[in-house]
Amino acid sequence: MSDRSSGTAVEDANSNLTMGIDPYERNWMRASIAILVIFFATISIAGFAMGIQPIGEDQEVDPRTVTETGPWAEPGVREIEPGKYEAYVIAQTWAFVPREIEIPVGSEVTIYVTSPDLQHGFKVTDTNINMQVVPGQVSTMTYTFEDVGEFPYICHEYCGRGHATMAGVVKVVPSSGGSDS
Ligand code: CUA
Repeated sequence: MSDRSSGTAVEDANSNLTMGIDPYERNWMRASIAILVIFFATISIAGFAMGIQPIGEDQEVDPRTVTETGPWAEPGVREIEPGKYEAYVIAQTWAFVPREIEIPVGSEVTIYVTSPDLQHGFKVTDTNINMQVVPGQVSTMTYTFEDVGEFPYICHEYCGRGHATMAGVVKVVPSSGGSDS
């Protein structure tokens, strides 16, 4: 008697299942698939729409000779077209070259950083500029400085005894009101 009634209960429960999958399990499967879709979309948007990518072969340099190579031989900031600048920065034990980057307010600056020795960091206070600096690789980021002021940059990757002394400053100065030429 008791055997028969329990058998009926199991049959009732089975009729509530779809394709033999327990509803809880089905919901967890849906959640897992949704999370994968979200992750894939996140990576796709970051990589293709926003251009955020790992450092590639085109950004490789030889750390042993980089300080004598091309723009790295004269690190610093240069105007490449009106309102647009590029800054080459070498991060080495234990200083940044240059220690100061001066630009007029509203300038768009593309910063290139590399290291000839070991791993450093490059973080500019009050901006979203925050890069790892790896020997043999060029880290790059473009940023527009909209406010006048001083924006210190620091090494945020512990690199030894002089780590705390690795610092510099971006000086954003009022624009001269026209080009000086
Ligand atoms: Cu360089 Cu810490």
